[in-house]
Amino acid sequence: MRILLISSSYNGLCQRAHVELEALGHDISITLALSPDDVRKGVTLFQPDLIICPFLKEKIPEDVWSKHHCFIIHPGIKGDRGPSSLDWAIMNDEQEWGVTVLQAVEDMDAGEIWASETFPMRQASKAGIYRRELTQAAIRAMLLAVKRVESGSHRPEPLDYTNPDVRGELRPLMKQEERRIDWERDHVATIIKKINAADSAPGVLDQIDGQDYYLFGAHEESLLQGWQPGAIIAQRHGAICRAAIDGAVWISHLKRKHGIKIPFYKRFLSHDRHFDFKLPAAKVLGSMLNDTPESPIDPLFSGTEPTFKEIWYEEKNQVGYLHFDFHNGAMSTSQCRRLLESYRLALARPTQVLVLMGGRDFWSNGIHLNVIEAAENPANESWRNINAIDDFVLEVLTTENKLTVSAVWGGCGAGGAMAILAADKVWAREGVIFNPHYKTMGLYGSEYWTYSLPKRVGPVKALELTETPLPIGTKKAKAIGYIDEILSDHYEEYLQQVRCKAEALAADPQYPRLLEEKRNLRHKDERVKPLAAYRAAELQKMKINFSGKFYGGEVNYHEARYNFVHKVRPKETAAYLAKHMRLDAVKLSELRQPLAY
Ligand code: COA
Repeated sequence: MRILLISSSYNGLCQRAHVELEALGHDISITLALSPDDVRKGVTLFQPDLIICPFLKEKIPEDVWSKHHCFIIHPGIKGDRGPSSLDWAIMNDEQEWGVTVLQAVEDMDAGEIWASETFPMRQASKAGIYRRELTQAAIRAMLLAVKRVESGSHRPEPLDYTNPDVRGELRPLMKQEERRIDWERDHVATIIKKINAADSAPGVLDQIDGQDYYLFGAHEESLLQGWQPGAIIAQRHGAICRAAIDGAVWISHLKRKHGIKIPFYKRFLSHDRHFDFKLPAAKVLGSMLNDTPESPIDPLFSGTEPTFKEIWYEEKNQVGYLHFDFHNGAMSTSQCRRLLESYRLALARPTQVLVLMGGRDFWSNGIHLNVIEAAENPANESWRNINAIDDFVLEVLTTENKLTVSAVWGGCGAGGAMAILAADKVWAREGVIFNPHYKTMGLYGSEYWTYSLPKRVGPVKALELTETPLPIGTKKAKAIGYIDEILSDHYEEYLQQVRCKAEALAADPQYPRLLEEKRNLRHKDERVKPLAAYRAAELQKMKINFSGKFYGGEVNYHEARYNFVHKVRPKETAAYLAKHMRLDAVKLSELRQPLAY
């Protein structure tokens, strides 16, 4: 079928829908719902058999939904309606939640039901549930709905609130008043729930020292305590710990409410550092934390007690597991340096295999664009950050005393999608989406990708992956050699598989030979072209990008980063997504051809 995806942004769910539908042989084009006319243009040019809206905040124009099969993927159970579905599900302690595929009609989320899937809820942030359980259920429901359309005989279910199966209801937009933390009364669990329900947007509005901030990234603390609820009692790696009536809670990120959006063209002239985007809490509060004690944590932390930790380590049966769960997978200079330190310590442990586990939502998304944007000199900070991530990748590439594995549960993009390739083996959960390209950020890229990527997929595919900034799923990734193994999409099963495979590798009678072969290959590669030469060539081009000049593309890095961090909507759907625009261009050029003679 010709399927047009209409989405508010090309977010993770839309990327996964794109990859899954294309893998089934459907002809896919995408249009962002930037305006009703953009939507109409996409429909007119592509003439779809079916329209699917994986993530839509806007209304579809009536002349579109009334003439086409148009599905809305709604993040709620049957009967649930409204713009804050998952927020309410978390706040109301729902034990089970779901996704429903609805026919678009005049009233939002009120159309006939084509498919619905449920999943058990867990204690996690809204974005975490969205990226894991909700995305998995949405894809199942979407594929079922597509099958039902193809069958031609399926009759969708009308929304009928008398049906006991329809448990949802119409709920309003959740307001800040309903999210507000009452520090004098709320327990740690309630505070965490409120912040979880507001992640990644809009955050929970709160006051610190008389200023309004949105709070993000809540973590329970088990040891620290303070007398004054709400008071900041400690800081660690950019996060702040605040006392609560029954303990304490860490908050990793803040966004100033009355932050200033400095226009792109004025950003070098402004000295105002009060940004209107999300940053590590300590960066936002600055000197306010001068007297707040730092609460240290072991670089190979292996405790089980709840606390704020970005890096931790486990070890069993000759295998070490290094977890690095950086918020949104973004890795700042200091985070990369700490990761390198922990990695070196893990290498010194008496194990045979070291597994790089990444984080729960993302393995890594490369350098930290928000921290760079907030730096006094973003070009210099970009340089420091890319070198820090390169240092970590180099350490993995040159590890000689162990076999290494990248175990990818969360997605990864740009530098993160190249960093996974530094390990000897790459295993990924089935539903992972990879974005192994830098072009949309106006970067040539580093992380030794010019060594690792062609080595795995060959030069032609490497060029294809990096030149066309599209996501790839695990089936394609495995077929082209980008990854080695596809593992389960269920977390516990996935962990079990990672453990079994890593332990089998460590206990393999061939282990000494495998390690020897790895060393020999690395030495041989080094003689052909040293890693330092790859790095120097990549960084030379990155330097050009950081200086604000283009390198082989038309995107300016500083502008692209500014737009990404400030969430500036694009003016039009990128041509690599909007196939209908490319078709249009082809048609136009065909029509114009005769004039050339
Ligand atoms: N630095 C800072 N923040 C980042 C980030 C980075 N490198 N990569 C992702 N994020 C943040 C997003 O701003 C978003 O923040 P939010 O919590 O405020 O919503 C969150 O992570 C999730 O990202 P999102 O883009 O919504 O996820 P996605 O699954 O739709 O897309 C990517 C994943 C990787 C395609 C996309 O995040 C991306 O392009 N990231 C930038 C990668 C990059 O260019 N890195 C620098 C070069 S190495």
